[in-house]
Amino acid sequence: MGADLERVLVTEDEIQAKLAELAEEIAQEYAGKDLLLVGVLKGAVMVMADLLRALPMTAPVDWMAVSSYGSGTKSSGVVRILKDLDADISGKHVLIVEDIVDSGLTLSWIRANLESRRPASVEIVTLLRKPEAAKVEVDVKWVGFDIPNEFVVGYGLDYDEQYRGLRQVGTLAPHVYS
Ligand code: PRP
Ligand code: MN
Ligand code: MG
Repeated sequence: MGADLERVLVTEDEIQAKLAELAEEIAQEYAGKDLLLVGVLKGAVMVMADLLRALPMTAPVDWMAVSSYGSGTKSSGVVRILKDLDADISGKHVLIVEDIVDSGLTLSWIRANLESRRPASVEIVTLLRKPEAAKVEVDVKWVGFDIPNEFVVGYGLDYDEQYRGLRQVGTLAPHVYS
């Protein structure tokens, strides 16, 4: 599976070290607060699993799954909820956990949607961000790595639902596409 990568952009060690750092900062920020981690299915599962285990405090986890309207219209920014949160978030300090901010459309929509539910606060942590791909500005409090605007897979990120299980993040070799 790793042989299908052309170039590794972020190694397993780099990911884990960064998540440990972020977990410390997050724990300080939310000490004594009613924190709820909200993961965005499916890409965020790896970040959630490792961030949660690195977090020196306990916090509940909930999940959302969203999809863009139509299939090829991801850039429309119109999103539909496939799976909503299980519980009410009013009064809670919500931290959205994502694998990547690409155009920013998914997160800006999710953030606005969650903010309308009267939480105490909404912040975002993402492992990856592609600054050059931004179509909307999203205020992301914690970013693991800024990466170039290339198609990447691994550590939750898929190509046609494959490669999510890779422990590193990288670009795919050309032979995979053909
Ligand atoms: C990917 C990724 C982010 C989103 C980022 O999810 O996991 O959630 O796209 O893109 P954006 O910033 O351009 O909106 P995807 O929709 O592929 O679903 P998945 O997590 O199930 O792979
Ligand atoms: Mn996703
Ligand atoms: Mg995807």
